[in-house]
Amino acid sequence: MFKRTWIMALLLSLAMVLGACGGGDLAKDLTPIPTLPQGEEPALTDALQATPAPPGGGTATGTEEPGGEETDTAQLVAQGQGLFVQCEACHGATDGAGPAFPGMGERAATREEGVSAEDYLHEAIVEPSAFVVEGFNDIMPKNYGEQFSETELKALVAYILAESGGEAASAGGAASGTAAPAAGDPANGKALFDQTCSGCHGATDGAGPALTGMGERATTREEGKSAEDYLHEAIVEPSTYVVAGFGDIMPKNYGEQYDAAQLADIIAYILTQ
Ligand code: HEC
Ligand code: HEC
Repeated sequence: MFKRTWIMALLLSLAMVLGACGGGDLAKDLTPIPTLPQGEEPALTDALQATPAPPGGGTATGTEEPGGEETDTAQLVAQGQGLFVQCEACHGATDGAGPAFPGMGERAATREEGVSAEDYLHEAIVEPSAFVVEGFNDIMPKNYGEQFSETELKALVAYILAESGGEAASAGGAASGTAAPAAGDPANGKALFDQTCSGCHGATDGAGPALTGMGERATTREEGKSAEDYLHEAIVEPSTYVVAGFGDIMPKNYGEQYDAAQLADIIAYILTQ
């Protein structure tokens, strides 16, 4: 029963990935671009601009960004840094739920033979199941291809290449310098939830119970337990109370992945639902 649920969840995420790619093979659709030495900024800019639009998001063909010529690397890197805040829960200064941010750009050059660092990073973000780093689980959200525009994906790749390692990098600094948001900020909680949880918790029941009404249900799940306490437990210790009709498939590492402030944000957001 447990196993079957897992397989169904896997098939489901596979279907989502295939759907996102229009059924096409991402690797095949990508025009190869030359591998570039890190730190060569003008060349990097060119390569990034030459990156073809991905098949994700259903707008596969002909989505060229106007004014792409002016987009300079520093600007892309800055934009990417802002976006990467959403990834730091799993990609921090050291290995955690996902591989460490420091060195990510360097490792990208070596992951898949014949695949440039740029192409690998793009694939790792929009099609994370295509190559699962050894020692980690295939838990990365599968919807980034739809969620981010092509420019945002370029920005993420540029940021990883520029800041995650190599000479110019202020390695850990970029990853760990983000100020923790004020506790219980539902807007930040929504961002985290959309990143990590919405694949299983959508508007209606799916792989997990619907987000709709989750805050309300939390008040009734366990006697004598406040909604906040129940939600905290449901997130960091999901096996303690398994909602009837669902398998115990929720990832078990959110307690390590998120700090107290982030958990408070997520809980604050769920309580509004
Ligand atoms: C829920 C946790 C989680 C989140 C959120 C997440 N990742 Fe990941 N990521 C992982 C895990 C686990 C792996 C390793 C397994 C794999 O390859 O899929 C990984 C792998 C990667 C890799 C390949 C790393 C390598 O060393 O080869 C890249 C690049 C990456 N993620 C980028 C991102 C970006 C960019 C974001 C945010 C937009 C993000 N990830 C959000 C968990 C996460
Ligand atoms: C792989 C799918 C999956 C992911 C990803 C996932 N969940 Fe769940 N979640 C479930 C399932 C299945 C259940 C019901 C079984 C149980 O109670 O553990 C559940 C239950 C819950 C509940 C209890 C809901 C209720 O109605 O009582 C909460 C709260 C919850 N999840 C929050 C989260 C949050 C927050 C995240 C992201 C940080 C998350 N989940 C990510 C699958 C998932």
